[in-house]
Amino acid sequence: MPLVSMRQLLDEAAKGGYGVGAFNVNDMEQIQAIMMAAKETNSPVIAQASRGARKFAEDLYLFKLIEAAAELNPDIPIAMHQDHGNSFETCKSAIALGFTSVMMDGSLKEDGKTPTTFEENVEVTRRVVDYAHERGVTVEGEIGVLGGVEDGHGAGGTGLEHITDPDQAVEFAERTGVDALAIAIGTSHGAYKFTKKPDGSVLKMDVLIQIHKRLPHTHLVMHGSSSVPKDLQDIVNQYGGHLKQTWGVPVEEIQLGIKNGVRKINVDTDNRLAITGAIRKVFAETPEKFDPRDYLTPARAAMAKVVAQRMREFGQAGHAQDYKAIPIEEMAAGYKSGKLDTRPSVAAR
Ligand code: G3H
Ligand code: 13P
Ligand code: ZN
Repeated sequence: MPLVSMRQLLDEAAKGGYGVGAFNVNDMEQIQAIMMAAKETNSPVIAQASRGARKFAEDLYLFKLIEAAAELNPDIPIAMHQDHGNSFETCKSAIALGFTSVMMDGSLKEDGKTPTTFEENVEVTRRVVDYAHERGVTVEGEIGVLGGVEDGHGAGGTGLEHITDPDQAVEFAERTGVDALAIAIGTSHGAYKFTKKPDGSVLKMDVLIQIHKRLPHTHLVMHGSSSVPKDLQDIVNQYGGHLKQTWGVPVEEIQLGIKNGVRKINVDTDNRLAITGAIRKVFAETPEKFDPRDYLTPARAAMAKVVAQRMREFGQAGHAQDYKAIPIEEMAAGYKSGKLDTRPSVAAR
């Protein structure tokens, strides 16, 4: 099946009351792991690539891998998404390549580190929305800034100083017409999110619930949503790694989010940990081995296990064949006619 629009996947998820994990892809083993998990659980797929991934894999290699996944798995709807697009040009080039969804992260300047003003964010996001919707492509925007600088997406600090303001979220949705909105509720990218199991003082689920009440027609996105499970940390450390003890976002909090409008959940770090732990284990236990297949095979299986577990926990499992893919040209017509308009003043009617 051709790649499908992310908006369609999220609309279906909203109807079904479930969330869809968005898993980062940098290489062949990662897309294979995602597809292994999707087949096992019969799940729709959102695969996403950061700018770093596009540079690492080279655009064409990366996109051909996704096309291969779609061709090999005709029964599974797959949306291909640009993660943390930093400019109009980045989003435009992703669309030219064939991505069916882009994130314009206008909460930060092009350097991916310095926060923008609200007006700058609205302006660049609106421009991407106009361009993308004309081509049937979905747009995710971001309002508020994630904490953490581990991967170059976030303003650092605790993140709390950049928690999304619900009034601004409503104004942003109205002025940009984004399909999906990433909000900052205290999470950050990478392994080091929280120093203990997070409670409401650091993970602001109350803010998320408020925003959903005010924007019931906008799909909410949770970034920095790895759970950083202790067993994955332990495997890495058991085989020579040096991770400090840390806490991620508990799955039950994500499930609370899903009950309150979260439809896309971004997970990368958990997969990185699973892959690294599996590779370290092979190196430690069988140091005589040097065929990459000896360690990439268990690494791929370890990632597939994490992804399948998240697909079940987020509720997308079992939903791959619920609907027929809408061609991207039809999505473009839907945006043009106003049928897919999510702006609160329009969608509420
Ligand atoms: O946005 C964060 C993802 O984990 C991607 O990270 O930019 O290092 O590829 P990356
Ligand atoms: P994690 O680092 O928590 O996996 O978050 C990934 C993410 O938000 C990608 O955009
Ligand atoms: Zn992110």
